[in-house]
Amino acid sequence: MTIEAEKQAAAEAALAYIPENGVIGVGTGSTVNYFIDALARIKHQIEGAVSSSEASTKRLKSHGIPVYDFNGIGQLPIYVDGADQINSIKQLIKGGGGALTREKVLAYNAEKFICIADKSKTQGLFGSFPLPIEVIPMARSSVARQLVTLGGNPVYRESFTTDNGNIILDLHNLTIEHPIKLEQTINNIPGVVCNGLFAQRNADVILLGNP
Ligand code: A5P
Repeated sequence: MTIEAEKQAAAEAALAYIPENGVIGVGTGSTVNYFIDALARIKHQIEGAVSSSEASTKRLKSHGIPVYDFNGIGQLPIYVDGADQINSIKQLIKGGGGALTREKVLAYNAEKFICIADKSKTQGLFGSFPLPIEVIPMARSSVARQLVTLGGNPVYRESFTTDNGNIILDLHNLTIEHPIKLEQTINNIPGVVCNGLFAQRNADVILLGNP
């Protein structure tokens, strides 16, 4: 089974969790793209979606799925998204596509967070995928200096601006001993908008594609 087939299988399996007549939270990335394409087949079962990125919004709309402003929506019944790395207690590293802040907002406001992924996302030491951190542009250097004191090596993501107009620092070589504590510590650095550790609000269900 190829990685693409694993992603697609995980995405298809998420359809079983879609409630009738609800507004669904939709994440971002190549695995979610398979989910959006699958969702299109049952679009008449749902009211519509809220989306974590301009890219997903565009894909949802191209299938004729209504996309709502999240400000007008309350609690989501479910949020479906991919991940860059997954540990044994369903905590995630996300943000490889740079959409982490909107993703975290939707995950926090969902009754059930369903993570869809290929098997490779469960491999390697948690933190071996560089941790994405969204930062306001004027604080890039000061935040980077603070991140070095945490033991990591921040790398500026060149030529990339988030949907919120900010930059991304990818934190390499990080040892993550206490994910929840680290998530809070990074969020407390002035200038940080959000970081890609989904530890306080981890996933409820992991759907992994495998043979
Ligand atoms: C987007 O910012 C990310 O959080 C994605 O959910 C993550 O990178 C997974 O993407 P793929 O499904 O493309 O691997």
